[in-house]
Amino acid sequence: MKKLHIAAAVAASLAVSAHAQDTQIDRKVTELMQQMTVTEKVGQLHQLSGRQFTGPTSSNYADKLADIRAGKVGSMLNVTGVADTREIQALALKSRLKIPLLFSLDVIHGYKTVFPVPLGEAASWDMEAIELSAHIAAKEAAAAGIHWTFAPMVDVARDPRWGRVMEGAGEDTYLGSQIAAARVHGFQGKQLGATDSVMATAKHFAAYGAAIAGRDYNAVDMSEQQLHEVYLPPFKAAADAGAATFMNSFNTLNGIPATGNAMLQRDILKGAWNYKGFVVSDWASVREMVPHGFAADLSDAAVKAINAGSDMDMEGYAYSQHLEAAVKAGKVKMEVLDDAVRRVLTKKFELGLFDEPYRYSDAAREKAVLGDASHRAAALDVAQKSIVLLKNENKLLPLSREAKRIAVIGPLADSQRDLEGGWVVQGERAKVVSIVEGIRSHAGKAKISYAQACAPGCASSAGFAEAVATASRSDIIVLAVGETWDMSGEAKSRTDITLPGQQEALFNALKATGKPIVVVMLAGRPLVFNTIADKADAIVYAWFPGSEGGNAVANVLFGDYNPSGKLPITFPRSVGQIPLSYAQYNTGRPVLADKNITYRSAYIDSPNTPRYAFGHGLSYTDFKYSGLALSSAVMAGTQKVTLSFDLANSGKVEGTEIVQLYLRDMVSSVVRPLKELKGFQKVRLKPGETRRVSFTIDRDTLSFFNSQLKWGAEAGEFKLMVGSASDDIRLENTLQLTQ
Ligand code: NOJ
Repeated sequence: MKKLHIAAAVAASLAVSAHAQDTQIDRKVTELMQQMTVTEKVGQLHQLSGRQFTGPTSSNYADKLADIRAGKVGSMLNVTGVADTREIQALALKSRLKIPLLFSLDVIHGYKTVFPVPLGEAASWDMEAIELSAHIAAKEAAAAGIHWTFAPMVDVARDPRWGRVMEGAGEDTYLGSQIAAARVHGFQGKQLGATDSVMATAKHFAAYGAAIAGRDYNAVDMSEQQLHEVYLPPFKAAADAGAATFMNSFNTLNGIPATGNAMLQRDILKGAWNYKGFVVSDWASVREMVPHGFAADLSDAAVKAINAGSDMDMEGYAYSQHLEAAVKAGKVKMEVLDDAVRRVLTKKFELGLFDEPYRYSDAAREKAVLGDASHRAAALDVAQKSIVLLKNENKLLPLSREAKRIAVIGPLADSQRDLEGGWVVQGERAKVVSIVEGIRSHAGKAKISYAQACAPGCASSAGFAEAVATASRSDIIVLAVGETWDMSGEAKSRTDITLPGQQEALFNALKATGKPIVVVMLAGRPLVFNTIADKADAIVYAWFPGSEGGNAVANVLFGDYNPSGKLPITFPRSVGQIPLSYAQYNTGRPVLADKNITYRSAYIDSPNTPRYAFGHGLSYTDFKYSGLALSSAVMAGTQKVTLSFDLANSGKVEGTEIVQLYLRDMVSSVVRPLKELKGFQKVRLKPGETRRVSFTIDRDTLSFFNSQLKWGAEAGEFKLMVGSASDDIRLENTLQLTQ
């Protein structure tokens, strides 16, 4: 990327605003800004967290409440509910210019109704379900006074040590871009300002998911090629989908903090992408540029952040304390300040807050929307679609209900908290359906017995004997193990991603009974569980499935729902293989078919292959792929080629297959990965049914960023692969691009 001079980039981003000048909102913003003092302008860029600003603790925050009353605060995070948002908004409306506050919150996977964690939802590969989940979250939050969610997280993440893999869509750029757009559409609905929608935030801009060694907040060092090819496209997709805001990130990128990074925020986002929303910093990330060693002090941090395009300072106090002086000293140009303020005010107008400052804080709507039963049905639907059947030896699943004795065992079997996962705001914990509760209510004639064996975390084996005794009296064991809810998420990096505590020992003790074992695993990331992968009869990966988790798991176990989820992220065999993605390069010394690894790109103590590959996921039925055809084996210019094949359900039950299209550009000026996902479809088929599935391939499908970071396709041969997983390619063909 050619580095533009900051001033030129500011001019470019100002030109964007100028273009919109004749809109009504723009005129209103201009009129308002003409009345604003520099102090009031800076106020619009100051965001405060106000969880305890209301109620009995409010007197502790008298100075901050006074700032709100004085128009020195533009936005609050963490104030929720109609009563509290009204109370604080009323204060802002007493300020000289009566500019309403924006209320924001981390509504990540549901508000009151808890949906699966985002990585889980990504396993559904179901854009409609994902969009609906975001929309319901928005509807509930918007009924409780919230205007703005800090979601979706669109960071590509290829390192499961990083706890925040839970919050995104996994490792793939293409899938991640589709999901980014679906989530933005879901949160924002048809139009900003509709009271069933909230503003979305594409975060964390950028490359936060590539923290060195998977340690949260760590530095990121990557080539521009990787940045443009892998990490930026989901952000671009979010911007194109209309994401109202972006959040920058804690990390440095090639030595420059994202928050102070003009190349990211000015050149790319507001320049090349012509982005019109505003950028909020991450929590105190402006301030953190001081310990990074990028800013000398808080004042310097304020100057560097705003000049680099960071519009709003979240809980950093750099802008509130230093921006006015910096403007007066000429370190920040008035037009830079004005551009940031204009962006923020524009959103307040678009939300309709100047006309109706309390329109999102409506007690009757809050009551009605938060009690809407259809939201639970949607949560169940997504949770089912998110579940991935990793293994099903001898077709042990689905379980029969006929007079079977089923022992449900494990630290997470009766947990409600762990089913919710992290980032839960107003979830009704008491109404979360646990796994054993779900199994009991779906069991029919089957007799269910339950033993916890150990508490979540499984520090003690004291309860194992009782659990083994319970298991011995049964015909089949369902064992619920995994991470606890608080082991993934922000600041939850792990060097060891095996099952915590003594859960593997518990599995071994149960295995010794000789009874068949179905393992239900909960987690916010890929775990390493080789013993279970080898020895369990069936494995159901349920992530943290949310309020309806127990019902979703039970429906899958008893076959009332035929699983269709596919992994959105690679499951390694060991931490030593990380980072591991299906989209690898070939090297000059790949491991060949004879598997001889002498002087090959290999490990001497492990296969290169993952435990479970990206795209893997089984069904209770079988799918046959045949008859691959291309409408033309040669493609020229802007022609399009159709790839088609027959997909048949050759099993005995109805099921859904997620067919995946990968390609490899065989020879190019910059080497290309062995496989890149370029398309997928969810196809539902009755037993015996066959359908012709087709994908359109155009020039864009074959394009990549060349060494000048120019997007385009190069003539030559492309291998096209269609399959059920990245390691289960069923059909291939080649396509020639001639020019
Ligand atoms: C820090 C996190 O990185 C970010 O994702 C979140 O939105 C903010 N805190 C606000 O809670």
